Amino acid sequence: MNYPDSVLIIDVSPRDGLQNEQQNVPTEIKHQLINGLIDAGIKKLEVTSFVSPKWVPQMGDNTELMTAINGGVGHLNRREDVCYSVLVPNMRGLESALDYHPDEIVIFGSASEAFSQKNINCSIDESIERFAPVAAEAKAQGIKVRGVISCTAGCPYEGDIAPSQVAYVTKRLLEIGAEHIGIADTIGVGTPIKVQNALKAAMEYIDVADISGHFHDTYGQALANTLAALQLGVRQFDTSVAGLGGCPYAKGATGNVATEDVVFMFHGMGIETGIDLGKLAQAGQRISDYLGRANGSRVARTLLSKKLDQAKS
Ligand code: HMG
Ligand code: MG
Repeated sequence: MNYPDSVLIIDVSPRDGLQNEQQNVPTEIKHQLINGLIDAGIKKLEVTSFVSPKWVPQMGDNTELMTAINGGVGHLNRREDVCYSVLVPNMRGLESALDYHPDEIVIFGSASEAFSQKNINCSIDESIERFAPVAAEAKAQGIKVRGVISCTAGCPYEGDIAPSQVAYVTKRLLEIGAEHIGIADTIGVGTPIKVQNALKAAMEYIDVADISGHFHDTYGQALANTLAALQLGVRQFDTSVAGLGGCPYAKGATGNVATEDVVFMFHGMGIETGIDLGKLAQAGQRISDYLGRANGSRVARTLLSKKLDQAKS
């Protein structure tokens, strides 16, 4: 097996990790999380989404957060070597996002008709029509466009999803200008072969170099799925610090695979991520403490308890 020297980790915790929180998370806490991730070496992250606040109230502070990231009104002193991505569902979202200069926008479709309706209130084909002007305008403004496809390994409403559905949505997203495709297991029901089949379906239309994996860990399969994706040639992975996350329209689904666990696995395989695992674990613990919940990363829990033991002895 030929493994790469390095991979790209995209931490999605400020967006996917917090969008489903019941409690209010102040903008300042989100900003601290983002700074902690960047300080740990994260080079690409999903910071927020420009969706309807009626649908996802937790992302309702998108403009305040982007203002803070940009260093205050009228400034733009954020890190040049970091890619700041935001989710955008329609032209309204893009128009709001443009004022804050995202490096990349994410248009998010679904391989399942039922999930498309529940999540963005339209059919798959309607969503493509809605995304087309968004992708065109973003590209005209020099902003990268990533398309993410939900429910590629199973849907909370439809059950199994045929890989041909993944191929279809990949093709349509590429036709309207997506430059990269994310293959998401929204509810974490995927197992390695299922996930590889979804990836292979996307690979009918796009080079694996431009595909990322986005695996939720509901059934504890996400690390195995990450390895299965790596073995197919995937080199970019969405992960979430402390395993935070979930989608309000995919009830019962838990967070993404924990960034710390993925980094530990890659480093153990001799694959570079550019991330300082100690600092990352601290950032994950800080947000877990704020939310008042157990850290969802087994690696972070172990590292932090070891550190505590050392401090005591
Ligand atoms: P809709 O109700 O059909 O839209 O929602 P609408 O055009 O009829 O507008 C309804 C109201 O929302 C109007 O306000 C609009 O102005 C407003 P009103 O007139 O009633 O006061 N509105 C907006 N406000 C702010 N920003 C906007 C915006 N658009 C409309 N962009 C819509 C359609 C797509 C807007 C809605 O369904 C929505 O926001 N959905 C977002 C759902 C979401 O964010 N889900 C989580 C992210 S996806 C995910 O987690 C999966 C992923 O992680 C991969 C995986 O794991 O699968 C990416
Ligand atoms: Mg997700």
